[in-house]
Parts: sequence; C-alpha cells; structure tokens
Amino acid sequence: MKYSSKDEIIKTVYELMLKNRRTAGSYQYTVPSPQTYPYQWLWDSCFHAIILSHCNVEDAKKELLSLVSHQFDNGMLPHMIYWEQPRPFGTLLTDVTWGGKDTSTITQPPIIADAVLKIYEQDQDWHFLKEIYPKLKKFYKYLLIDRDARGNHLIGIINPDESGEDNSPRFDIPLKLPAIQTTTESIEKRLKLVEENKTCNFDAPKCMKNFFWVKDLPYNCFMVKNLLSLYQIAKILKLEEDRIIIGQQAELIKQAMRTNMYEDGLYWSVFGLDYKKIKVKTWAIFAPLYAGILSQQEAEYLVDQHLLNKKEFWPKYPIPTVSLDEPSFDPQGYWRGPTWIAINWFVFQGLLNYGFKDIAKEIYRISNYLIETKGFREQFDPQTGEGLGAQDFTWGGLIVDMGPH
Ligand code: GLC
Repeated sequence: MKYSSKDEIIKTVYELMLKNRRTAGSYQYTVPSPQTYPYQWLWDSCFHAIILSHCNVEDAKKELLSLVSHQFDNGMLPHMIYWEQPRPFGTLLTDVTWGGKDTSTITQPPIIADAVLKIYEQDQDWHFLKEIYPKLKKFYKYLLIDRDARGNHLIGIINPDESGEDNSPRFDIPLKLPAIQTTTESIEKRLKLVEENKTCNFDAPKCMKNFFWVKDLPYNCFMVKNLLSLYQIAKILKLEEDRIIIGQQAELIKQAMRTNMYEDGLYWSVFGLDYKKIKVKTWAIFAPLYAGILSQQEAEYLVDQHLLNKKEFWPKYPIPTVSLDEPSFDPQGYWRGPTWIAINWFVFQGLLNYGFKDIAKEIYRISNYLIETKGFREQFDPQTGEGLGAQDFTWGGLIVDMGPH
C-alpha cells in the first residue's frame, strides 16, 4: 500500500473504518479491532470521529451520538459500551466486567470536546453542536467535581486503564509494582483495583482516597485542551455564562498543574494526598505541548533535550511511549515502550502549537511509513518498526488528520 495523495489515504482509511463498523438499533459505532477489541471504547470513538470527519462527516457525528447514548446519570461517560456483543471482554481481562451491565464503570481520556470541534470545523453544523453540548457539559462537570475530591483543580483517575495506557510504567509506583514486571502481574493489580472499586461502588471520591489516586499528566493536559474546545463550542452556541466558567476552570487546572506537577523543566504525574511526583519519563512529558501550557522557551528545551534525543525518545521509529533510558522501557511491552499512532498524533498537534513544523512533518512521515509498510497494527517496535498487537486497528487512521502537507 503506497499513498501518494490525500484522497488515496482517506479512501484506504475509510475502508478500514467501514470494515470495523457495527450497528445496534439506530446507532452505529466503530470497533477498534474486530478480533481484539470488539466493543465501543470512549477515547477510541473520539479518534474515530476525528478520522471520520475527513471521510464522511455524518458518520463522525453518529459515532459520537452512540457514545454519549450511554452516559451515566452523574455525567460519566463509561470507557466501554458492550452493545449487543457477548461479554466479558474476550482476551486479556477475561473475567472483568468492570462493574456494569451494559457498560464499564470507569472512564477514559476526555477528548470528546476536541472531536466535536473537529467535526464542526468540517461542516459548521450548529444543530449537531446544540444536540451534543448538554452531554459534553455534564461529562466535564462530572470530572471537575467528582474527580477533584479535594477541590484542588487536578483531575484524578481511579484505575490505570482510565488513562488509556493500561500498563504504563507511570503507574508502577502507585501500584507497588517493579519496573521490570510481567503482563500478568500488572493485570492482577488492575483487577484487584476493580474489585476494590466495586466495594466502594465506583464512587470516585471514595475510591480515589482508599485505593488508587493518580493525577495523571496527559489526563490533565487533555482536560485543559478540551475545556478550551468546550469554551469555543459554548462561544459558538452563544452560551456566555457557560463560556466564562469553562474558561476559568481550564485556567485553574493549568495553574494547579504548574504548582503541583512541574519540576526541573518537566511536568510529571502525581499521586496520593501529598502529590508525590512520579518521575518516570514517558511520552507524557510532551502532553503539555498539546495542552499549550508551556512557554516557547520551555517547549524548545523539551523538544531539543528530550524528544530529539536518540537516547530517550528518538530511536529509528519514534515516538516510543517510554524513554529508552528508563529501566522499564520494553520495545514490545504494550504501553511500556512501543510507538502508538495516537500518541504520535497528540505530539504532532503539540509541535504545531509551538511552530515545530518540520519535526511534526517528520512524525507524520514516520507514522505514515509504519502504516504503509506494516499495516494497521496497534503498536510498532520503536527500534525495528515491527508491527505489534491487534490487527486492523483503527488508530492508524489518524494520519488523515496529520497530512500530507
Ligand atoms: C486497550 C488500550 C486502550 C484502548 C483499548 C481499545 O485497552 O490500552 O487505550 O482504548 O485497548 O482499543
């Protein structure tokens, strides 16, 4: 498969999206991978909507409308909707039901406002914005209130899987796991957490205090960026009061991140009551570029010293999810090293925010090369380029939002 024009890329990607499309009554959604991930996932569907906004904008809207159809009364959007597919999850987490009947009871990265805004950019459909806005508002309000139990303006997660990076070494210390670990050890800990969270009925403030309370760096960056997108949406809908409050909330998180997460030129995830920094270098250190919370000078330092550093994040096929010089780095270890196209997409956007056009283009080129030569795989070995994990995996479709230039 060789792409020479944007139209060809869009055509191939849309074919994959159609292959992975499922319907349930009047709803339609896309599964990330037919064999490995046969349900609807929260942040995956946001990626799907962004991809589909380039292929068929009405499909993009339908993807998100099916996603918000299972919103909880308290506003949470669950990380998985099973629809009519048999449960439980068929591969690794065999017996996990995540506490719910039709959905899981944990959430995932809150990037839905960005996805909605991308859709609006394509066709300026004001009616779609108006239809989905109340759901978005309810979701972000839930995160701002229930996931900030102490009112300190940092958003907490109650399980590593809520970050979307299930076994990332960012969670080793809070989970009391060593840097070198087996997949089984990680899964056992996360399963135990699900059991513990069931005992507090998945009530986030209680669960966070008792079992696992991480203020994850990308999650908070996504909040800042998405509150700014929600701000834009409220502006378009002429919801003045909402717009002002949303803008203030984004600013408060930004300030709290600076106070609690920043040290020695880098932002870190923090955990527990006393905000201990988790100083493990993962791609998360670049998430602030995406949120636009760095000064130009800080961004330049980050890119020069860390992103373009061959000993850290610039092997042959960047961007590895974990720095090469971390003891936990494992080039084939799922979220412990491999290159994932969605992560490349976040950093790509972040680089453009700060004017690093050539580096962004290079990330597009590498992402495109990996997909062209290895297919739509879930991850890639950052040193050899080998395709890893699920097949027919949708996230590679994000290249339609990156180029060609
Ligand atoms: C895995 C990934 C998660 C993703 C899901 C479906 O659990 O870690 O980020 O949402 O698969 O693709």
